[in-house]
Amino acid sequence: MKYKRIVATKFGGPEVLQVIEDELHEPKAGEARVKILAASVSRPDITARSGKALYSGTPLGQKVPFTPGYSIIGVVDAIGEGVSEVAVGDWVGALTVIHGYSEYLYWKSDRLIPVPKDVDPGEAVPLILNYIVAYQAMHRSARVKAGEKTLIIGASGGIGTALLQLGKIAGLQMYAVASANKHAILQEYRAIPIDYHTQDFAEVIRQSEPAGVDVVLDGMTNVDGIRRALSLLRRGGRLVCFGEPAGGFPNLLQVLGIFAAVNMLPNGKSMKLYGTSTYFIGDPKPYYEDWATIFKLYQEGKIKPIIEKKFPLWEAAQANALLESGKVTGNVVLVSPELF
Ligand SMILES: NC(=O)c1ccc[n+]([C@@H]2O[C@H](COP(=O)([O-])OP(=O)(O)OC[C@H]3O[C@@H](n4cnc5c(N)ncnc54)[C@H](OP(=O)(O)O)[C@@H]3O)[C@@H](O)[C@H]2O)c1
Repeated sequence: MKYKRIVATKFGGPEVLQVIEDELHEPKAGEARVKILAASVSRPDITARSGKALYSGTPLGQKVPFTPGYSIIGVVDAIGEGVSEVAVGDWVGALTVIHGYSEYLYWKSDRLIPVPKDVDPGEAVPLILNYIVAYQAMHRSARVKAGEKTLIIGASGGIGTALLQLGKIAGLQMYAVASANKHAILQEYRAIPIDYHTQDFAEVIRQSEPAGVDVVLDGMTNVDGIRRALSLLRRGGRLVCFGEPAGGFPNLLQVLGIFAAVNMLPNGKSMKLYGTSTYFIGDPKPYYEDWATIFKLYQEGKIKPIIEKKFPLWEAAQANALLESGKVTGNVVLVSPELF
């Protein structure tokens, strides 16, 4: 039996995404085969596909052809020898980095995330990537406390809207930076909106918060924005950057230089760089704890991913084009055609 998956045949625009067929096989020992119900379309999919990710063109960069797709929700449909963590029929998620735009995924069974069976996979799939980034940047890196004045940069996107929802639950007093046509969603979560096209967020905040803010959560991670954000922090203030630095290694080096300087200076301010890479190279336990919390919040109706549009899996190119258009508020997802 064959299954379909999407492949980026070369680096380029959404048109490089093509449908191919592979032979379905039994999972290997320690592996589960997952029938994918929904896959997120995320910013890192776009940078990897276009060859513009931080490591693109280096030995660490993604090679073509490859199947994009950073996260999925699906149902286990076969297990390999020695698998004890999951059984056939279980609903699971996976933080895949690549491979998600597919009908099936073969994945190490000890790296699957428990997902409740009653969720709508097309709505819940952003919980696997965008909400874990938002939750951990907010609670593990910034360690926010109720009432803290918090600035969110990049507030209208997949991670930004997750931060707005989680920030409201955490009782934060939020300022949020996004394009003016997306300010309604910022206000819905009681954030004070700032339009970066017409306003300097640092000036706006200095006027309304002369003593500074406690936390900045920055999804843009560019040098100019970081400098302005740091200037707004009061003593004890924390800047957490979770965006992939644009501008490649020269920009990254500058960001790292600022990072080292801020954390060495005795000015009472701190800066952290958040990345999900610690899931793969560090202790994954905090991730599973946080996914459990996030799914509980979702099931209790306290958070609800904002979905701009769902596409059937085969329209991955159109879904990528929509996310790249800059017109999206929240998330774009791919859904198994059977659920569409
Ligand atoms: N650390 C990690 O592990 C991790 C994981 C996933 C993603 N990321 C990174 O996190 C960042 C955000 O991801 P995302 O999924 O939320 O992206 P997204 O859904 O594409 O949203 C990004 C939003 O940022 C806004 N924006 C663009 N330029 C801006 C500026 N100068 N100032 C303020 N807002 C601006 C855009 O909205 P407007 O229309 O409002 O301008 C856009 O909708 C990306 O860099 C992504 O690569 C990091």
